[in-house]
Amino acid sequence: MSTIIIVGTQWGDEGKGKIVDFLTEKADLIARYQGGNNAGHTVVINNEKYILHLIPSGILHKGKKCIIGNGVVIDPAALIKEIDGLKSREVEIDNNLYISKNAHLIMPYHIAIEKENEIEKGSKKIGTTCRGIGPAYTDKIARHGIRVMDLLTPDIFKEKLFENLHGINFLLANLYKAKPLDGEGIFEVYMQHAERLKRYVTDTSFLINEGIDSGKNVLFEGAQGTLLDIDHGTYPFVTSSNTIAGGACTGLGVSPTKINRIIGVVKAYTTRVGSGPFPTEVKDELGERLRQKGGEFGATTGRPRRCGWLDVVGLNYAVRINGLTGIALTKLDILDELDHIKICVGYRNNGKTLVDFPKEIEALENADPIYLEMEGWKSSTIGIQDIEKLPDNAKKYIAKIEDLLKTEIQIISTGQKRDEIIVIKEQF
Ligand code: GDP
Ligand code: IMO
Ligand code: MG
Repeated sequence: MSTIIIVGTQWGDEGKGKIVDFLTEKADLIARYQGGNNAGHTVVINNEKYILHLIPSGILHKGKKCIIGNGVVIDPAALIKEIDGLKSREVEIDNNLYISKNAHLIMPYHIAIEKENEIEKGSKKIGTTCRGIGPAYTDKIARHGIRVMDLLTPDIFKEKLFENLHGINFLLANLYKAKPLDGEGIFEVYMQHAERLKRYVTDTSFLINEGIDSGKNVLFEGAQGTLLDIDHGTYPFVTSSNTIAGGACTGLGVSPTKINRIIGVVKAYTTRVGSGPFPTEVKDELGERLRQKGGEFGATTGRPRRCGWLDVVGLNYAVRINGLTGIALTKLDILDELDHIKICVGYRNNGKTLVDFPKEIEALENADPIYLEMEGWKSSTIGIQDIEKLPDNAKKYIAKIEDLLKTEIQIISTGQKRDEIIVIKEQF
């Protein structure tokens, strides 16, 4: 029996979906612990591409229990669309999906308010996915959120909806000069959603703990990445949940004493979508090359991802904050053709050298990366499954990362597909 958390170590899109799908083969339960349909986790099986937003990436293996935990915020329309999309591709959902009663719902007013908010911020906008994530977590913390369990009691749902709309419509009309929302219409639509979703709703914390106690292998799937964490990321340019490993415990109702391993997914370079500081960003032709070769366009919004070199300052912080027991390195193949590869080992800032990730946004904005340069390997690593078959310079790059992070690289992904992977250490 083992429990493993899979966590993003950068600004998201590290390839968590691919790693979760791969490890699911030996897992029994797979549980998402935070975020919502801002996430886009891509899995490629044979030549078929699947993008998961809310449902754990384990769903593509037959007969695995997939759980959406209490820490997730759920847009029911988006979830139903995802369920239907997967069913139309012959993925079995009805006997495998479980949704936490305690998870909070994303409501139409969350999306409306977020759009207005982003417009009002102008050049200071966060560049969110506009899926209503921030406003839904705001309501949760402010204690007037509406939860999945409320869908099952129409009277309670309606009362909460109308209480909330009272304030929201005042704000929309008077602050944003926008159209008010129709409560009866929302109620009707959400009751239809309830009919579709109620069969999956349960006490998921109980289910997971029961699985752990009976010796099952459990995977916890994080969304976004460490540097987007609401407490530990590059605030305010972050998402609104605890993306780090600790979020798995609160987001699922599992004790820290039950966690066996924590695997950080590290992309062999760095990307970021949306606004915010990114010290190793490469804005020239090379950045565009990485974007094109790596297919670095948002899996949720289609926006081009900003690209740059690997940043060990950020990664060492992620190793510490998450307590990583190992690393899954992805997208090594995207660097195949480069003559030289850079790794950022520190920042220069106002004449000072920083090796610890700064907490002040201004310090990050003004951080001038200190690079170590390595020779490229200039040959294809696509699909390699044996570490010995990697070119020498690729092995040197991997060894250097391990040395700088003092953490073992236990899995190396060498392509999009399920079997394009090198396993150095078995996880289950
Ligand atoms: P996630 O949000 O962390 O699950 O990552 P995304 O799915 O948003 O983005 C990762 C992208 O890289 C997806 O298109 C994956 O199919 C792809 N990918 C993952 N691992 C590899 C790899 O080793 N090589 C290549 N070429 N693509 C990969
Ligand atoms: P996965 O799970 C990359 C970014 C947005 C924005 C910020 C806040 O696929 O790695 P939000 O809508 O969450 O309030 O937006 O966070 N963001 C992501 N970036 N991958 C993601 O998810 C992201 N989810 C949110 O672009 O900068
Ligand atoms: Mg993604």
